[in-house]
Amino acid sequence: MEFVKLLFVCSVLCFSQINSSGILCEEGFCRNYIFKEGCPSTAQECTINNETHTGIWLPSPTTCNCCEYCLPFYGKGAHCTTGGPGTGVTVGRCGYGLTCDPESLTCVRKKSKCHTAQDEYDARHLKGETGALEQRPICDGKGKYAAFHCVPAHTCFCQSEDGERIFGERLNQGATTMQNMHCGCSRLNHKIKNSISTGVRFPVIGPRCTSDGNFHRIQCIGRICYCVHRITGAIREEKTVNLDEEPISELPCYDPNLDLFPNQIEGKPPFNYTTPCYENMKAKIELILRGEEEGFNVEFFTSVAECMPDGTFGRIQETRNGTKICVDERGQKIEDYEAEPNTESFKNMDCKCAQTSVLMAFSNEKPICCKNGNFRKIQCRRGQCRCVDSDGRQIGRESADVSTLNCYTPDWKQC
Ligand SMILES: *[C@@H]1O[C@H](CO)[C@@H](O)[C@H](O)[C@H]1NC(C)=O
Ligand SMILES: *[C@@H]1O[C@H](CO)[C@@H](O)[C@H](O)[C@H]1NC(C)=O
Ligand SMILES: *[C@@H]1O[C@H](CO)[C@@H](O)[C@H](O)[C@H]1NC(C)=O
Repeated sequence: MEFVKLLFVCSVLCFSQINSSGILCEEGFCRNYIFKEGCPSTAQECTINNETHTGIWLPSPTTCNCCEYCLPFYGKGAHCTTGGPGTGVTVGRCGYGLTCDPESLTCVRKKSKCHTAQDEYDARHLKGETGALEQRPICDGKGKYAAFHCVPAHTCFCQSEDGERIFGERLNQGATTMQNMHCGCSRLNHKIKNSISTGVRFPVIGPRCTSDGNFHRIQCIGRICYCVHRITGAIREEKTVNLDEEPISELPCYDPNLDLFPNQIEGKPPFNYTTPCYENMKAKIELILRGEEEGFNVEFFTSVAECMPDGTFGRIQETRNGTKICVDERGQKIEDYEAEPNTESFKNMDCKCAQTSVLMAFSNEKPICCKNGNFRKIQCRRGQCRCVDSDGRQIGRESADVSTLNCYTPDWKQC
């Protein structure tokens, strides 16, 4: 800990021109310094960088950062120290996903839900009980779930740090998907919802996302709109637009294919960057507040439906006669998925299979969906059938004989 702090102080001070001892870190200083004082030898891990020996180069805690410094990462089971008096200088730290156990002073795997899920998967894998399309959970360096989960041959979808599926899905195209799907926007909205929104009465609107969970390229703060980086959400140094004068289509990053509500670029100023769902929400909130001012009992109205991170009402819509249908991001009905009120199928409707099949429109291995757009619990592919969960993830081994599957029921075809 102490060491990290020291490095931090150094990275603040040492990179400025003058360090705390008043030496000017001018060109040539280091050449002299190294000649006179020499550099301590660095840990070998950074130069080896193989499976067992890794480390990262950091600015050295020496005057003007003249020397190189390697911080080694210890492997599982290696000796480590937690710092503090009497434990000596920390020369490295436990690698990704590991932590220093204060009892045994060795690097151990961090305890986390994701690591536990990995261990469970590994144990089943050893016994030959995992399916061909099952994926070992991927955890990040802190032991949290990776930003997204991929179902082989189907789609990838965003998940929270706890492995909960959240907004954002795209076709699984292997490496391309890994590079382009970051779910930063979706995860930020999820965090806002779970932290800020619990303390306030009305839903808080987070940054606008695209359907894959990345940031929408256009974000507005008040009446000023900016182009942002779709992965980090950071504002780019480009033209901005004032909605009182120009529509968002004047921004260089405007993409008509990503504009779900293109009617807003038409007409005369003032322009807007909103969605029917946000407008509906705003109107409801105003109604509630006005009602309160006039002394009405507004308990009855106080639920304000939340909008999706892409500003839409969601992928399930109620029709005028009370049935529910599955819709795409533009609100268009998907095939004839539907559920009648007062049925089990209506209550459980999630439209997840309908959404996946839209993304897989050009695939010949589309999943089989129930009438209400949910995944059928048994999916078959190339002569093998498997049980899946509500997100289409395989559970357990596949079989050529459906009746041997754990989730089998005689009526499996009618769900
Ligand atoms: C990594 O390099 C070290 C030192 O050269 C060597 O002892 C070790 O066996 C290597 N590990 C692997 C997995 O190649
Ligand atoms: C933008 O919203 C304002 C207030 O709701 C409205 O008066 C105006 O007509 C809208 N602009 C366009 C171009 O639709
Ligand atoms: C309700 O409306 C949908 C179309 O929006 C239609 O397909 C369905 O048959 C209707 N259901 C009833 C019970 O009228």
